[in-house]
Amino acid sequence: MIPALLRTSALAAAASLDPDADVDVLVPTNNPAHGDYQWNFAFRMARARKENPRALAERLLPFFAAHPGVAAAEVAGAGFVNLRLSDAWLAERLAEQAAAPGAALTPAGAGKTVVVDFSSPNVAKRMHVGHMRSTHLGHVLTNLHAAAGWKVIRDNHIGDWGTPFGKLIVAWDEWRDEAAYAADPVGELERLYVKFGDEASAKPGEGTPEAQERSRILQDRAREETAKLQRGDARNRALWEDFRARSLEEYEAVYQRMGVRFDEVLGESEYGPMTDAVVEELLAAGTAETSEGAVIVRLGEQVSVVRKKDGAATYTATDLACVKYRVRRWSPERMVYVTDARQHQHFMNFFAVAKRWGCTADLVHMGFGMLKLPDGAMSTRKGNVIRLVDLLDEAVARARAVVDEKSASFPEAERAAIAEAVGVGAVRYQDLVQAPTSDITFDWKKMLAMDGNSAPYLLYARARAASILRKAAADGGPGAAAVATLAHPLERELALALLRLPEAVDGALRASAPNLLAEGVYRACEAFNRFYFELKVLDEVEHRASRLALVLAADRVLVHALGLLGLRALDRL
Ligand code: ARG
Repeated sequence: MIPALLRTSALAAAASLDPDADVDVLVPTNNPAHGDYQWNFAFRMARARKENPRALAERLLPFFAAHPGVAAAEVAGAGFVNLRLSDAWLAERLAEQAAAPGAALTPAGAGKTVVVDFSSPNVAKRMHVGHMRSTHLGHVLTNLHAAAGWKVIRDNHIGDWGTPFGKLIVAWDEWRDEAAYAADPVGELERLYVKFGDEASAKPGEGTPEAQERSRILQDRAREETAKLQRGDARNRALWEDFRARSLEEYEAVYQRMGVRFDEVLGESEYGPMTDAVVEELLAAGTAETSEGAVIVRLGEQVSVVRKKDGAATYTATDLACVKYRVRRWSPERMVYVTDARQHQHFMNFFAVAKRWGCTADLVHMGFGMLKLPDGAMSTRKGNVIRLVDLLDEAVARARAVVDEKSASFPEAERAAIAEAVGVGAVRYQDLVQAPTSDITFDWKKMLAMDGNSAPYLLYARARAASILRKAAADGGPGAAAVATLAHPLERELALALLRLPEAVDGALRASAPNLLAEGVYRACEAFNRFYFELKVLDEVEHRASRLALVLAADRVLVHALGLLGLRALDRL
């Protein structure tokens, strides 16, 4: 990473003023006319020392001028230290990065373990587009951690416990259609769940007395079946296991298409039996107390319920049991939970209880914004859910139409593979390119965009690089130089955009914001396209070897960065 490589100078400069000073990192300049990187340290120091920032910055310049990578160092404005990096030095760094794109990252996580809890759908329901964000964001987050040297445990904490299963069992007994279940298990389970809701939702004072009575009976039966299941009743257990297994099979097929894999798929059910011990421990430690029959933990204004009045364990209790399990199994330094932002309060409370309980790991909630439909929220009950498989199929079909038209000469199997990568990638990238915290309104056109800042745009840029390299290998001309020369401004611009990708990875990881990486990759692809359209490579005599070195570097570095975003680079499309 460039700022890390310049750090020796920054440290020496800072130490010359104050041996204990914190050193600000160097940041890219907003305007390339002012140089490549700037250092704003003089402002902070000048304030503390009551000195003139410009004069102070002047005194710091020699430390940078001595750095082999710095071609020019100057003070600008009221006290910015602006650095212009040497072309030759940049070219050498780029050659190193191309040889090992992953090595350019600061291994901040070396020797440390992180558990990333993501995707985590509730079984017996279809995966719909609402599950997409946790899956995409969580997946990229696992890649980013791994890139920074962390040992990563990818954990799919599936919702497979609690009252929904009692309801499902009652609905199964009342209304099941076995042929439908055989043909489309999750579809049938979802229908049964909705049916139960419709039949058992008469509120007191609404509907006929018969409907109310019936509603009450169904709800009581559901509670009874849930309790039986949790006590280990053989029939309920077998039904539940089947519902769960069929759901997981369907999810697995979606994960495969999305290129997502997990190290651990443990459901809430796994932790259910451990919750009693957790509650007892909290009580014994004085962290929890009994209040009106329930067990609660007081957290200032907030109250966290760990056991309900009827003895049932809460979501918080399961999460606490799960923390205990993970700590025992992996001793992670960090645990990240990727869910929508509406669960934020749950996580804040649960983290606070876990800390009091002695958990020392860094607990992080990565809450993301809602995915809304143009006409409001999506709900199984309303029947307006967009299934994830349908979205992927639609995207792939649209990509296929483009591929068939533009690449008609490719063999059928290759066209199918390209369409799959482009379609699934387009959906993924549209999701990743947004700031995770912002709400997004689902828009078919946007999701399936094949131009602009989209996956196809990025994949095309890299495929162009691959194509030049293929032609170069075949035309018998001189091969790539070891290091590029960066004689033309567009070459330099491309090199710098590629060299900045490790900073984008670092920033995305720090802020839990994959969009920062997406932005960096987009910039690099734009720079590549400008280079590609303006400058000749293969037909050049003087610059061929040097430009080939640059194309080779772009190829390697982009494949790596696309991979971190979960996009499959294609050799041609
Ligand atoms: N299954 C939950 C849901 O769909 C998300 C679980 C998140 N992870 C956790 N450890 N609580 O809302």
